[in-house]
Amino acid sequence: MSRKVSTEAIGVFDSGVGGLTVLRALKELLPQESFIYFGDTARVPYGTKGADTIIRYASESAMFLLEQKIKMLVIACNTVSAYALESLQKKMNIPVIGVIEPGVDSILAASKTKKIAVLGTTATIKSGAYEKQIKAICPEASVYSLPCPLFVPLVEEKMGQHRLARSVVEEYLIALKNTNIDAVLLGCTHYPLLRSAIEEVLNKVFSHSVTIVDSANTCATYVRRLLEKNELILPKPSNPSAYFVSDDPEKFKEMANLFLQNSLDQVELVQHKENTFFKII
Ligand code: DGL
Repeated sequence: MSRKVSTEAIGVFDSGVGGLTVLRALKELLPQESFIYFGDTARVPYGTKGADTIIRYASESAMFLLEQKIKMLVIACNTVSAYALESLQKKMNIPVIGVIEPGVDSILAASKTKKIAVLGTTATIKSGAYEKQIKAICPEASVYSLPCPLFVPLVEEKMGQHRLARSVVEEYLIALKNTNIDAVLLGCTHYPLLRSAIEEVLNKVFSHSVTIVDSANTCATYVRRLLEKNELILPKPSNPSAYFVSDDPEKFKEMANLFLQNSLDQVELVQHKENTFFKII
């Protein structure tokens, strides 16, 4: 069954389920808006892939959302924001916003010493996107970028609260021991679900306090500003949000309880053929 979607919805794209952490913040700040979420669950993770593949996957997914007549696109995925934001902005005739700039704003506001750590997927860290953006705004900042490839599978296996999560977090974060950072940016959709383990480890490694920042709330503020600027904000509640995935809607629903802290009634499967996603009618 196909759901009738609003022509006034905001598109939210992620490689899978992780972008629901960003959607949660968007829904909180903009309760009257309707959202169309697409998670490319058939091809997740993107964070282990190369630039060309990430850009191609992102473009196909964004085009699917554009066909749903969205008024704006939010790229909730850090990896996609790092590689494909510019190309998507060029390709699409609607405002497109990623999470790098909001994340950088948040971390620079949170850090007093401007000694900053950025955690992300292997691809995000390799892109240097966060570091470049931080240095562009604050050239004197010291940025310590750390790929944490085991964090995503840990969260997806619902082991964010497990003692193993703490060991893995410690294994990565110990590298920051001699850096004297005062703020850590969670540069990946999944990492807010490891926040307590990260906090515990930071408390152990550092004798001073280290602030943990994620980009979801600042991203939502950016979106509101952009909607206001473009006079796109809805004055009253519109249609319900819709959810599309490229694989296993049932698993997505189950994971949504964790990432969105809300249950979803309906998630639609879309088909991928000849580099295009189609709704199954
Ligand atoms: N959504 C991705 C990100 O924020 C994490 C999952 C993946 O690797 O695709 O970077």
